[in-house]
Amino acid sequence: MNILITGGAGFIGSAFVRMLAHERSDWKLVVYDKLTYAGNLANLKEVEGKYEFIKGDIADREKIHNVLREHEIDQIVNFAAETHVDRSIMSGLEFIETDVLGTYNLLAEAREKGIQKYLQVSTDEVYGSIAEGKWTEESPLLPNSPYAASKTGGDLQVRASFQTYGQPVIITRASNNYGPYHYPEKVIPLFITNLLENKKVPLYGDGMNMRDWLYVDDHCRGILAVLEKGNIGEIYNIGSEEELTNLDLTNIILKELGFGSEMIEPVKDRAGHDRRYALDSTKMQKLGWAPQVSFAEGIKTTIAWFKANEAWWKPLKDGTYQEYYRQQYQERK
Ligand code: NAD
Ligand code: DAU
Repeated sequence: MNILITGGAGFIGSAFVRMLAHERSDWKLVVYDKLTYAGNLANLKEVEGKYEFIKGDIADREKIHNVLREHEIDQIVNFAAETHVDRSIMSGLEFIETDVLGTYNLLAEAREKGIQKYLQVSTDEVYGSIAEGKWTEESPLLPNSPYAASKTGGDLQVRASFQTYGQPVIITRASNNYGPYHYPEKVIPLFITNLLENKKVPLYGDGMNMRDWLYVDDHCRGILAVLEKGNIGEIYNIGSEEELTNLDLTNIILKELGFGSEMIEPVKDRAGHDRRYALDSTKMQKLGWAPQVSFAEGIKTTIAWFKANEAWWKPLKDGTYQEYYRQQYQERK
């Protein structure tokens, strides 16, 4: 099987490529990635020689057209997206270009080429914020951030391709991922790397927002299960049932790294900050999937990885990231 993994140099996409290189070693893996600030070929170093790489934009329709033919692609898994809510609050245009237009172009080209299966990797953020209970795949889509609205736009294009053309598509919607190679401006890697540099951690608002934390390899196992066993035209929620408030999460990371609450810097809240995300993953359980890594274990593995891989994250905290973060931070103080 020849599979195109778009966004395969990012955090989750690269974990998926590393997993396939070991578990589906007879597949031809083609990674297509624009290499934005979040894309990094160092994420794929462990599997060098086991995949082919093409630098490209999913919004570049002609390039996609050629790649699908040159590499005789059978299936596509689309991870490519602008993904950081805070960046989307500062400027949402790239989010629309990649998450909506890029998805549209990929779908249109996949249809023209007769791609057997197209899997769209999406997020729980399309449902908005939920005070109690859990979202099922039938819950209404009520996105609150420019990022979430763009991901919803992409999901709706996928739905429309199925309804209108009968295109073989599937959507997965996962909760917050964490693990090795997580870009150090998302909360877990930001807090770990700040503490490793003896810096305080900026906690937004009252710290009572809740997230459901899914270890990245569990997410990837879920995507593979859906790709191989999921029903065409359907949506699958992938959550872990490991809910934590941001304050509890922060205290766990502080304790693991030997710090106390004096290292917490309370800062202004994120605009439109979703209070709680929670997914009902019953459909995934019916496919035989369940998370294998508890938060207690996953956070230890993640912290150990960041301790051992300073050479990976240190350069990312310089340059454009530093400027982006400085601007954000000044605004929040
Ligand atoms: P990431 O930001 O780490 O990586 C995104 C990747 O996409 C990067 O390699 C980047 O270079 C590439 N990319 C961006 N724009 C592109 C374009 N126009 N053309 C080609 N490549 C492009 O993101 P991630 O956290 O790995 O998320 C991957 C996917 O999973 C996204 O679709 C995201 O919405 C979804 N998701 C993420 C989470 C999470 O907690 N991180 C949870 C649920 C779903
Ligand atoms: O739920 C899935 C989503 O999870 C994905 O779709 C997104 O791509 C991914 O980035 C993530 O979005 P969040 O906004 O939930 O993740 P983030 O790491 O940015 O923030 C997690 C929580 O931590 C959120 O409530 C805001 C808070 N936070 C974040 C940062 C960066 C802080 O308190 N301080 C911070 O410095």
